[in-house]
Amino acid sequence: MAEARGNHSRSSRFAATKRWLLSITATIASTYALDAIAAAAGLLLAASQLMQGLSHMSVLAFLAGTYILWGMGLRLNLEANWRLLEETGTSTNVLSKVAFDVVRHWTGNVRMRKIATASGYAGTELAKEAPYYAGAFGAALFSDSVSANDALTFLGGANLGAAIYEYGLARLVTGYLQRKNTPIYACFETDWLPRDYLRDFYSVIEEDERRTIAFFVEALKKTEPNRPILFFGVGPALHHVFLAARRASEIHLGDYLPANLREIERWIERDPRAHDWRPFVRFTLECEGVASPTELDITRREELTRAKITRLFEVDLRRADPLGGEALSGYSTVISAYCADSATANRGVWKTYMGRIAGLVRPDGTLLTAALRRSRFYLVGGLAFPSANIDEHDLHDVLQRHFQHGGLEIASCELENAASKGYSSIVLARASGRCASA
Ligand SMILES: C[S@@+](CC[C@H](N)C(=O)[O-])C[C@H]1O[C@@H](n2cnc3c(N)ncnc32)[C@H](O)[C@@H]1O
Repeated sequence: MAEARGNHSRSSRFAATKRWLLSITATIASTYALDAIAAAAGLLLAASQLMQGLSHMSVLAFLAGTYILWGMGLRLNLEANWRLLEETGTSTNVLSKVAFDVVRHWTGNVRMRKIATASGYAGTELAKEAPYYAGAFGAALFSDSVSANDALTFLGGANLGAAIYEYGLARLVTGYLQRKNTPIYACFETDWLPRDYLRDFYSVIEEDERRTIAFFVEALKKTEPNRPILFFGVGPALHHVFLAARRASEIHLGDYLPANLREIERWIERDPRAHDWRPFVRFTLECEGVASPTELDITRREELTRAKITRLFEVDLRRADPLGGEALSGYSTVISAYCADSATANRGVWKTYMGRIAGLVRPDGTLLTAALRRSRFYLVGGLAFPSANIDEHDLHDVLQRHFQHGGLEIASCELENAASKGYSSIVLARASGRCASA
């Protein structure tokens, strides 16, 4: 036990030393980089004669403008440096790391830590300006060939160089953090095993599915009855389909992977190897108001569902027409749960996918959807599949482009026990009144 504690404290001392060494190296490298870029930009601008002939006031105004640009770059970099310190304990500015560590040692107050960190950083950057002032004004004072305007032009150029440097460094740091936080994703085509998915997510009815099914049961009451209902991205899973069996005239199921559709066929054909959905059917009936569903009630709902499923087809959200001309021109109700958000890690792509799913709903129709909330991945068979890291605001933004404003109902739910699978909340939505023009 004592040996383990000793090992632990040795390895944390080593990690702390490594963080300091990294920060010192990054500080030296970034100081040289800033010097080189700012000096080169100042000299280039002064030598270019671009500002020649401008009045003193114009040159001063230009200089003021370059300070604003530099300040904007610095602001971005302060934010990036703060995130870098918070997430890795390292910095590109050793003084700001000192400030960060000292304040963290004395108080848990995040605001104070942020102010100290920014002060350490900005203070150093301002101090780095001094040699430029000394150089520029020294040359103007002691040399006849350098005028006050030349000195100001040099300073303006140096500020522009510094702005480019700050902006570039901020991009570099945020890019690094993004790469660091992005897991390596598994691939649907080669890594997705329907059996693993069913085992990991549908062996018991987890809280996220209790919430989703209950929400869909209620939301479905506000849709047009006796029309075909499309389940888009149904996966190998039927747990949402049972709730549509009474309301739909027929049920169409679409998914990207043929292996998922085969799993559904197994259930339709009563293959003994098919997944057992009866607990989910029972829960669905309870949500519909049946106090104690009997085995017969469950079998009847299963049979009704089998009878209503009339089409199974492959879909692909990467196509502008995700159904590939396979189905109806527009459904009055589309249900798509954990599909667009669980098919990409990129929010821009997710928005496009959601637009395409909304496009399958006919004018005035309804989309019911569900997504993982603020999640970057979910685990299937121990492999990380992508999640678009979206929340209720993102969903609202995307749905309001395609549906009437009053037709949106969006709920987010915190979950107790899902974090080990990669998420701890979900967002559920009903979007009614699809706009004809969207
Ligand atoms: C997390 S599963 C959700 C399945 C099911 N809706 C559920 O709630 O369990 C994500 C689904 O997205 C589908 N998918 C992946 N890439 C897709 C694409 N390009 N187009 C359409 N669906 C895709 C997968 O086949 C998978 O069934």
